[in-house]
Amino acid sequence: MTQSSTYTQPEWLSEGWEHIWAPYTQMQTANFPLPVIDTKNTHITLEDGRTLIDGIASWWSSCHGYKHPHIMAEMHRQIDDFPHVMFAGLAHEPAYKLATRLTKIAPDGLSRVFFSDSGSVSVEVAMKMAVQYWINRKETRRHKFICFRNGYHGDTMGGMSLADKEVSMHRIFQHFTPKQYVLDIPNDEYSFAEFEEIIAGIAHTAAGLVMEPLVQGAGGMKFHSSDTVAEIFRICKKYDILFIADEVATGFGRTGTMFACEEAGITPDIMCLGKALTGGTTTLAATLATDEIFSNFLSDEMTAAFMHGPTFMANPLACAAANASLDLFEKEPRLEQVLSIESQLRDELRPCRTIERVKNIRVKGAIGVVQLNDATWEEMFSLRNKCIESGVWLRPFGDVVYLTPSFTIAPQDLSHLTGTIVDLIKKL
Ligand SMILES: Cc1ncc(COP(=O)(O)O)c(C=O)c1O
Repeated sequence: MTQSSTYTQPEWLSEGWEHIWAPYTQMQTANFPLPVIDTKNTHITLEDGRTLIDGIASWWSSCHGYKHPHIMAEMHRQIDDFPHVMFAGLAHEPAYKLATRLTKIAPDGLSRVFFSDSGSVSVEVAMKMAVQYWINRKETRRHKFICFRNGYHGDTMGGMSLADKEVSMHRIFQHFTPKQYVLDIPNDEYSFAEFEEIIAGIAHTAAGLVMEPLVQGAGGMKFHSSDTVAEIFRICKKYDILFIADEVATGFGRTGTMFACEEAGITPDIMCLGKALTGGTTTLAATLATDEIFSNFLSDEMTAAFMHGPTFMANPLACAAANASLDLFEKEPRLEQVLSIESQLRDELRPCRTIERVKNIRVKGAIGVVQLNDATWEEMFSLRNKCIESGVWLRPFGDVVYLTPSFTIAPQDLSHLTGTIVDLIKKL
């Protein structure tokens, strides 16, 4: 799909580009981003008239497709009522309802919800909660975190400190962020024994262990089993370490169950949610905690209270969108759609197995990954551009080409995405 030769860039783009600082972008060499004028279900319409099939649902968030009429209607209703009011000392139905609903669908025992405004902040909140939980219990040495190689937990200071310092884009900040224990995810009897030995030695200084259950996303799209998650959880409990599940990416059906922890059969002490919480319409995040965590903040002393409160915490418009998104999970067959996407991805990515450049193919729920041997940045950038020429919106990075489409994607659109990946990788 090529751009018409008579097309001229809109003025706002060239003018604004002089003032925009784009994400993850070398601004000296970057081309203009693609100007978007509309989105609908899994399609992105560009200013020049082209339409792209979105294979990554705006970074895993748009789980019901863009502009689902139910979410749009509920957001319009809330905007007319009131789009925002502060949350300290004031209450509103969208947030209180949402908190109640989230605790009903979250793993059993997560009974408190702290709202914030992005996935990264939900992780910061979780880290503060864990550290203060121990302070309130008069255990002041527990302020470090255990986390994993290939992990990613956001771009803020605490989140960056949990990232893999070797492979992560945050490695240049390694002397600036707090030092954590970054370990390999164990995967067999021997590595589990070694893992447990390390944990036994550091438990007295650990506030918590933070992990992306089942799928590590932006750190390399690595998968591990639900048994692995369950065993790591068991070891955490044995050594009295808080288990923090970062489900910002995996939450809301992406891996096949509503939450990845569900497949592992565990209730984390703290769980972070974001991305698909509002069906990908607007920014909202939540940090859920158990009664055990919450009760340790109850005291006659103000100093034991949790001192955190973003300005736009529990934004009513975002909460209305999130409630509407939960309605859709109740009314429409989202998890069944995830299963059928999973089986289509398995079938249609299989031809990659015979391509020499392909190292590994993996599929979990509505996530498909093709990992290449020795991919260069230049190759990945060129792949991105070729995808656009084929009418497809994907963001290959590192050595992976991945798909995380909306759950409502039409099978023929998904086939176009997988077909494009197979064709383009063959030509590498
Ligand atoms: C597992 C995980 N945690 C945290 C974040 C940060 O979320 P946000 O980009 O909304 O700050 C992300 C974002 O990709 C993520 O994948």
